[in-house]
Amino acid sequence: MSNRTFTMIKPDAMENGHAGAILDRITKAGFKLVAMKLTRLSKEKAGEFYAVHKDKPFFQDLVNFMSRGPIIAAILEKENAVADFRELIGATNPANAAEGTIRKTFAKSIEENAIHGSDSDENAKIEGDFFFNHFERVG
Ligand code: CMP
Repeated sequence: MSNRTFTMIKPDAMENGHAGAILDRITKAGFKLVAMKLTRLSKEKAGEFYAVHKDKPFFQDLVNFMSRGPIIAAILEKENAVADFRELIGATNPANAAEGTIRKTFAKSIEENAIHGSDSDENAKIEGDFFFNHFERVG
């Protein structure tokens, strides 16, 4: 059980002005910010981040979507962070997301689903390290 996870507020949620409301949900759920930045992924970087999906039919669309505008990337801390955060954001497809979850409230489709949450402790570390160096974290 790890105490950290990694998240991105995706371009759709940024475009729609939901970043503040989403960060409010996250912090009110007890997650502490360890690192955070506003940035934009190039197509190359988006492809690198989602390399595990490179053979999926939606890969190119995903890369185009994730690089089309600014995102907020963050490392979050809480006991049982990975599992608790996935519960807070809800299912990948907002149509299947539980009431009250971030994706149920803010996501439009399985692709434009507002927010990312790491799926394992190992990926949380890899993904956090992809965006943040030692000096960009408070702990
Ligand atoms: P996330 O879980 O953050 O990381 C993989 C992303 O791929 C996922 O969010 C969606 O944005 C996207 N994705 C997953 N499954 C599909 C799908 N079937 N069709 C389109 N996009 C998908």
